[in-house]
Amino acid sequence: MSDITLLSPGRIGGLETRNRMMMAPMTRSRALKGGVPSELAIEYYTQRASAGLILTEGTAPSAVGLGYARSPAIESAEQIAAWKKITDAVHAKGGKMFCQLMHVGRIGHNANRYTTEPLVAPSAVKAAGQIWTDEQGMQDHPVPHALSTSEVVKVIEEFAQATRNAMAAGFDGVEYHCASGYLPMQFLSTNVNQRTDQYGGSVNNRIRFVMESLDAMIKAAGSPLKVGIKIAPSMPFNDVQDSDPTATYTTLAQALSPLGLGYLHVLQTVVPGTWEMVRPHYKGTYAIAGGLTQATGDAALKSGLADFCVYGKLFIANPDLPARFAKGAELNAWDATTFYSPGPKGYTDIPAMA
Ligand SMILES: Cc1cc2nc3c(=O)[nH]c(=O)nc-3n(C[C@H](O)[C@H](O)[C@H](O)COP(=O)(O)O)c2cc1C
Repeated sequence: MSDITLLSPGRIGGLETRNRMMMAPMTRSRALKGGVPSELAIEYYTQRASAGLILTEGTAPSAVGLGYARSPAIESAEQIAAWKKITDAVHAKGGKMFCQLMHVGRIGHNANRYTTEPLVAPSAVKAAGQIWTDEQGMQDHPVPHALSTSEVVKVIEEFAQATRNAMAAGFDGVEYHCASGYLPMQFLSTNVNQRTDQYGGSVNNRIRFVMESLDAMIKAAGSPLKVGIKIAPSMPFNDVQDSDPTATYTTLAQALSPLGLGYLHVLQTVVPGTWEMVRPHYKGTYAIAGGLTQATGDAALKSGLADFCVYGKLFIANPDLPARFAKGAELNAWDATTFYSPGPKGYTDIPAMA
C-alpha cells in the first residue's frame, strides 16, 4: 500500500509528470485529407495539456498503415510540420506528449487512404465487419495482401522512420499500438497469423514482429524510455482471436521487461483480471486503462497494481479532468455521437471549469 494518488507527481518515459494520469490515445477523425492533422487539433490537445502525459490519436507510420477516414499520419514533411505545431503548443502549456503509432494492417478501406497500395496483414485473412468511408458509406474490409518475409522487414523500418519523424516533430516519445486488432495484434493473434515463417506459429514467433519493431523504434528514438507499448489481451475488436491469450501475453510481457521501455499500457476489455494477469510478468512502469474512475484509479495506484492510470472518454468530455478530480467537481458526460464527427462540436467546444 502507498499514499500515491492520481494527483501525485510521477515519472514516466524519463519525464517528470505533474500527475499520474494519462490521456488515452483516441482517434477523433478531424485530420485533413492526406493524413495531415488539422489546426483544430492544436486547440484540442492544448486544452488537455494538464494530463501527466497525453497520448495522441492513432497515427499511421506510413500511408499503407492508414485505414480510417480523416486519420493522421507521420510520414511526410507536411504531416510532421503540422504535428510540430501541436507539440510546441502542448509543451508551452507544460504538457508532455507521446505519438501513438497505429498501423491498421487489414482494417481499412482505400477510399480513406492517400495510397492505392493494398492493405497488408500477416496472412490474407479478411476481417469480418465493415468500416466507414466518407465517399461510399459503410464498406467491407478487403482481403489484405499477405506480407512476404522481406516485406515484414520493410514495415518494421516504417515504424523506425515514423519514430524518427515523431522525434523531429517534437514528441517526447512514441507509443506502439499493439491492441485493438491492428497490425501488431494481428501478428499476435492465431486467427489472423497463419504464417509458416519465423513470424508465425509458436508464441515466440508470433511476438517476433512486435519485438523487432520495438527494437527498431528504440534505436530510432535513441532511448528505450521514449518508447511505450499498448496491449489489450483478449480484446475481440476487429475480429482478432487468440487460442491462448494468457500464454501469448505473459510471454510477451516477460520479453518486454528487459527492454527498459517507457511503460507498458494494458487495456482491459472483456476479461476481468487482465491487468492482474499481466502485472507479475512485467518489471517496469505499468499503466492501466479501461473504464477507470477517480476511485478505481486511486485504488489501483494505492495497491501498487498500477503506476499510471489512463483515461479516455472522461478526457474527451472533461478537458481539465485532473483539476476536476482535485476539486471533486462534477464531470461532464461524453457524447458518443461526436467522437468521430468532423468539426469542433464535442472536440474543442467543451469549456474548462469556471
Ligand atoms: C473515440 C475513441 C477513439 C479511440 N481511438 C483509439 C486509438 O486511436 N488508439 C487506441 O489505442 N485506442 C483508442 N481508443 C481506446 C481508448 O484509448 C481507451 O483504451 C478506451 O476508451 C478505454 O478507456 P476509457 O474507458 O477511459 O474510455 C479509442 C476510444 C474512444 C472512445
